[in-house]
Amino acid sequence: METGVTPLKSIGAPFRRIPRRRRPEYSRCSAEWGHFLASESSKFTDAQPFDALVGRFILMYLPDPVATLKLLSRQLRSGAAIAFCEPDYTVLSTVVPEIPLLRQCEEWLREAFRRSGARVDMGMRLYQTFRDAGFVVTGITVSQLSGYGVRREMIEFFVEGVRSILPKIEQFRIATREEVNIDSLADRLEAHAREADPQWVSIRYISAWARKP
Ligand SMILES: C[S@@+](CC[C@H](N)C(=O)[O-])C[C@H]1O[C@@H](n2cnc3c(N)ncnc32)[C@H](O)[C@@H]1O
Repeated sequence: METGVTPLKSIGAPFRRIPRRRRPEYSRCSAEWGHFLASESSKFTDAQPFDALVGRFILMYLPDPVATLKLLSRQLRSGAAIAFCEPDYTVLSTVVPEIPLLRQCEEWLREAFRRSGARVDMGMRLYQTFRDAGFVVTGITVSQLSGYGVRREMIEFFVEGVRSILPKIEQFRIATREEVNIDSLADRLEAHAREADPQWVSIRYISAWARKP
């Protein structure tokens, strides 16, 4: 490691949850770029100060994002940068022509997030959250995925998201396993999408960055 470069530490996803086939990639990152440390974000401490704090799709799950950022801020040098990207599920995707099954899945997902306590509008709360945690906001931008026609890999990517949330969809009685019928979902979505041959824009992902005064 070069002198003067603050070691990179990643907190959040416990290593054991990374699928085995992806671990070598993470190990290489670890060896070249720094250390990975699994930690509950509100309990993270380290002896060294950091130059930056970055995260994607994290703050929406925290019980109190302002309190966590204030706590992590103590680990940052003055002038350090923070940057987070969070979704805004209050505006669902736009698909023309509409695909009702896709809309249905998005509503199941959003409802499962909401009922599990996640902030579905975290993207639109970044400015206030950073400010309340004592940071000076320096920029905000929005990005969306967009495309047209049908790509099977996009459908499968989306269906894997539904699959991962399915236990919550069932737990909160948003839909039954039979209604979701996860193993045939990709085929059904693909059939509807081929019929519609749509143009689409995803939900919004908001990124904001700021400095510690
Ligand atoms: C949707 S994943 C995002 C993962 C990754 N940042 C990405 O963009 O693909 C949410 C992550 O937040 C982490 N997380 C949620 N609550 C947390 C907490 N209280 N402390 C630390 N990490 C947390 C989870 O471990 C999980 O890795």
